[in-house]
Amino acid sequence: MTENIQQLSLLENIESVKPGLPWEQAQTLKELSQVVAACRLCRLRDGCRQAVFGEGYPQADIMLIGEGPGQAEDEAGRPFVGKAGQLLDNILAAVGLQRSEVFIGNVVKCRPPGNRLPLPDEVKTCLPFLQAQIRIINPQIVICLGALASQTLIDPGLRITRDRGRWVIKDGLEIMPTFHPAALLRDPRKKRPVWEDFKAVMKRYEQVRR
Ligand code: URA
Repeated sequence: MTENIQQLSLLENIESVKPGLPWEQAQTLKELSQVVAACRLCRLRDGCRQAVFGEGYPQADIMLIGEGPGQAEDEAGRPFVGKAGQLLDNILAAVGLQRSEVFIGNVVKCRPPGNRLPLPDEVKTCLPFLQAQIRIINPQIVICLGALASQTLIDPGLRITRDRGRWVIKDGLEIMPTFHPAALLRDPRKKRPVWEDFKAVMKRYEQVRR
């Protein structure tokens, strides 16, 4: 498996890769997490401590997707454990959700240096892992936290201030774009719209939860 990944790192464009890759073969999150842990497909892995796979209930009805690990997450090996993560915990608690019943992940699994945004080629390279996570978990609802996750999973032209709070149905998934918790830390006026978005999610969750 590691050999496959090393061979792949020679390929510039992952779209040119044929089916049957390690992440496509993974049937469980555990298998997939081993592929992610061994990944050296982009430069991010060299600059971080560890890949942060994501965590939560393997059959979660709700998946929350952020950008990528920050320093705290890189150290802990867990998603959303820094300041933005504490705020996310508060939001989840406020709507009656526990971390253990949802799955929390990120677009890229390795911390970008200096907490910069992941670059387009890094997103493109890491996206198959997120797609595999979605395939295995098969959630009813995906919450995109912030512009990067929303543009990656919904539409590159999406504008988070304009488009948040509107359900998008794509590839059979119901997706809710909303602001990233870090944006709320910078601008508390965004708390109200995020509250509305999570209330809409909870309403739908009551209808579709398994
Ligand atoms: N911000 C993110 O987008 N993801 C994390 O895991 C932490 C902070």
